[in-house]
Amino acid sequence: PGKPIVILGVFVADTAYRAVRQPRMDETILGTSFKLGPGGKGSNQSVAAGKLGADVTFLTRLGVDPFADMARQTWVRAGVKSTVIDTPQSYTGAAYIFVEETSGNNAIIVCPGAAMLISPDDVEAHAGLIRSAGIFVTQLEQPVEAALRGLEIARGAGVTTILNPAPAPSVTLPDRIYALCDYVTPNETEAEGLTGIKVSSIDDARRAADSLLGKGVGTVIITLGEKGALLHTAGRSDHVPVVNAGPVVETTGAGDAFNGGLAAALAKGVEPLQAVRFACAVAGISVTRPGTAPSMPSLQEVEAVLLEG
Ligand code: RIB
Ligand code: NA
Repeated sequence: PGKPIVILGVFVADTAYRAVRQPRMDETILGTSFKLGPGGKGSNQSVAAGKLGADVTFLTRLGVDPFADMARQTWVRAGVKSTVIDTPQSYTGAAYIFVEETSGNNAIIVCPGAAMLISPDDVEAHAGLIRSAGIFVTQLEQPVEAALRGLEIARGAGVTTILNPAPAPSVTLPDRIYALCDYVTPNETEAEGLTGIKVSSIDDARRAADSLLGKGVGTVIITLGEKGALLHTAGRSDHVPVVNAGPVVETTGAGDAFNGGLAAALAKGVEPLQAVRFACAVAGISVTRPGTAPSMPSLQEVEAVLLEG
């Protein structure tokens, strides 16, 4: 399974509505289908890594309610260990996901609920777990102060750190967060949010990545949707194309598939460029299936796709 991975983040129940378009204000429209399933970026990344056979522990807060039961069942099935702080004063969160019928693209409102209460002290209380990891991963769905504390603890212990800065932060991130990150993995929108550079081409992505390197990040990986991903570090820049694993059904959670796949590969000691190729295959398979966590592939499926390509 490789070195242990510890992921700090959020679980929510995904409520996915497919429709030809979004309703306008004061309007009701009929959708084509509805699906309830496990989601939340940190949890999805854990499930992706777990299904690939990684040794992964997910650290979070949950309410005490049926969605919390869904979370635990999801992790057990994916082989993910969990450290949960029960939070009866709040609720296990949920996400409204509009999936556009024709493209499979999405628009999301996420309410993290109990996970919004994850504090730096919570993270500190699990410092031993983080220090014992080979790789530490976090995102920005829970408070940024908690992510920052986790990155500090990990960095202090020589643990490889990955910050997936998703969703795009609505406030400026503290400057000192960047130097704590071995890897930062924004998508195009998030890269623009962090740098002010609009990313619509691979060249734009290189400029944005340079700006993040200038802030102290070790290696920048920008995911570029149907254009694949850019791996960018001092003196080296590689573009990795997408892995086409079939017709696109739903792109929600593709970034999580990528990050879980990246962590799983790095945990096994795979070189960064190969790890990004592997992560692109994980994401490429996930978009051919509905849902987020339920669409994460097994190691066998990823290897089969990489062999074909
Ligand atoms: O990255 C996809 C995830 O973002 C969804 O599962 C949804 O829960 C939102 O948090
Ligand atoms: Na999917």
